[in-house]
Amino acid sequence: MTPFIKITREWRNHQNSHKSVVLWFTGLSGAGKSTIAHSVEEKLYQQGCKTFVLDGDNVRHGLSGDLGFSDEDRKENLRRIGEVSKFFIEAGTITLTAFISPFRDDRERVRSLMPHGDFLEIYVDCSIEVCESRDVKGLYKRARAGEVKEFTGISAPYELPEKPELVVNTDQQTLEESVESVIQLLIERDIIQRV
Ligand code: ADX
Repeated sequence: MTPFIKITREWRNHQNSHKSVVLWFTGLSGAGKSTIAHSVEEKLYQQGCKTFVLDGDNVRHGLSGDLGFSDEDRKENLRRIGEVSKFFIEAGTITLTAFISPFRDDRERVRSLMPHGDFLEIYVDCSIEVCESRDVKGLYKRARAGEVKEFTGISAPYELPEKPELVVNTDQQTLEESVESVIQLLIERDIIQRV
């Protein structure tokens, strides 16, 4: 007989009164991925849910601090984030990831790492014109000037999701509307209870 009881994901989910999942936000730089992810997290946290946001701010400085923006480095960045997300799901956490993740294959590879239904792809749709006009970090300007190479949407591709679980349009909807549609998705998928 083993001297311990293995605490499973199911037990953690039961204790938390919600299921765990990864909400994978994808879209151009400046589309609003991190903003929506953090706003959804705030709402879930207020309801007592276990949550965590992975985004460039906490991943690209540490875990992926050795990586740049070549196709290979982006692939490796997303592989690592996918593996970390798997642990978070096992830990019972609603995990929100906010990365451009421009390549369809890379996103599908992450999806295939997880049991069916654990990966919900959310396309944060916003035209390049609007993203560029926002230019929060001044990177579009630098990319146009050729100072930043391989910049998604300018000098590197973004492959549209084919069958995302949800699309939010940040150049048309308010932040509140986008957040609400993500919360509705979680309710529909039976991840959280109706509030
Ligand atoms: S991903 O392609 O690997 O998913 P990730 O989301 O981690 O990219 O990082 C994107 C962020 O890094 C952008 O929002 C931007 O602030 C910054 N960045 C710096 N250089 C580039 C680049 N060449 N292409 C895209 N984003 C870049």
